[in-house]
Amino acid sequence: MAILNILSETKNIVDLRKKSRSVEKINKRIINLLDDMRETLKNAEGIGLAAPQVGVLRRVAIIEIDDGDLIEMINPEIIYRDGEQTEMEGCLSSPGKFAETVRPAAVKVAYTNRNGESKEREGTELLARAFCHELDHLDGVLCFDDAKRILTQEELDEMKKEKETSE
Ligand code: CO
Repeated sequence: MAILNILSETKNIVDLRKKSRSVEKINKRIINLLDDMRETLKNAEGIGLAAPQVGVLRRVAIIEIDDGDLIEMINPEIIYRDGEQTEMEGCLSSPGKFAETVRPAAVKVAYTNRNGESKEREGTELLARAFCHELDHLDGVLCFDDAKRILTQEELDEMKKEKETSE
């Protein structure tokens, strides 16, 4: 396994805008990619990573919100969405930058796992947002594109402070 370089919005925006191709065959290369992405995500202390973020234009993404509950998705698709939520979100490709985004409150995703099995997984709250965020990467879409507003780390810290003092 290896820790891969995560492309950044400031340096690699052209590559991050590219659309990823479907995986036709789950071969050794895809399995290695999943393994490397897992290690890369862990190293970056993130909750989700899409293959184009590590320079591989394939429809592959992983999410791990709860330790040990790693969701590895090949050719994922949102098959159901419901409701609405507005929250802050960030991206490993844009350190220190945050977007306030409107996402569905709940989504259901269909995908293939590393063993070639068809799976479905439902998510609400943070998991619903993560599904939308990572799947957007596969189409070259970043969370800042349709954001209600964009904040820096300083602004976010300030907001948190204000919220704490008002509570
Ligand atoms: Co991202």
